[in-house]
Amino acid sequence: MRGALISIVLFFHCAGADLLLGVDVPLYAFAGGQATLSCSYDLRATRLYSLKWYHNGTEFYRHVPTEREKPINIKPSLKFSVSELFRNDQRVTLSLTQLTVSASGQYRCEVIAEHPSFRTETSTATMTVLREPLSPPVLVGAREIYEPTELIKIGCQPRQPFHEEHKPTLQWFLEGSQVGAEWVSPYGNTLQRGYPGLSLHVPGEQIASAGGSLRAECRLTLGPHQRSTFKILRVRVRMISYVDNYHSSGSEKVTGIVYIYALLTLTTLLSLV
Ligand SMILES: *[C@@H]1O[C@H](CO)[C@@H](O)[C@H](O)[C@H]1NC(C)=O
Repeated sequence: MRGALISIVLFFHCAGADLLLGVDVPLYAFAGGQATLSCSYDLRATRLYSLKWYHNGTEFYRHVPTEREKPINIKPSLKFSVSELFRNDQRVTLSLTQLTVSASGQYRCEVIAEHPSFRTETSTATMTVLREPLSPPVLVGAREIYEPTELIKIGCQPRQPFHEEHKPTLQWFLEGSQVGAEWVSPYGNTLQRGYPGLSLHVPGEQIASAGGSLRAECRLTLGPHQRSTFKILRVRVRMISYVDNYHSSGSEKVTGIVYIYALLTLTTLLSLV
């Protein structure tokens, strides 16, 4: 039932979106950095008259295939530098470099079909340019070695404060697998804005049973960007258990030798008879 509903929605969606298939704009970028924007279209029977990109309503890129003199027109801007990375009859991809904070805002792609329809379609996406580059998160309270009996607790926080609207997400991983909800909890002063901390709680025995050490990684994600910090969690493997093992395997060997000896004695006795 649900599948049927989804396909109906998709069907109507495709039927409506003849020309412009969509834009691909990163949610976040960083001042001084780069962003790749794509606009995909499918003209089928008609031809492209023009494809334009706008930032906050100001045109910065124009492609008009019929204009022999200047099929590409890029307007210089103080907000960013624009270059064309790729162009064919289905997609135009631009690279914006030297981004400034005021490059934040609405990015709109507009596609106009050739005469006679001049059908126009647009698609818009928002990008926020943050002042500071993304730093790896900070681990708080981690020790070099733990006891197998203790509950290991480590906090993870962003290095810089974030605006409520542009809050990164944090996740914990053990040996590359995401840690379940039962082993994480909010960390730090939750009333303190901009620092969404997340702590990890692992029973030491869990590490001990995995051989004494595990790689714990805290990953910070903001839109398409990720940074992470890791720590090898080590648990003291008690000497007593080595001694126990040594003795038990030793006594097994002893029993074996005694058994073989007894068998030999028995055969010797039998042959004598
Ligand atoms: C574009 O709009 C965004 C969001 O409203 C704003 O932050 C940004 O400064 C604007 N940039 C320009 C150059 O108008």
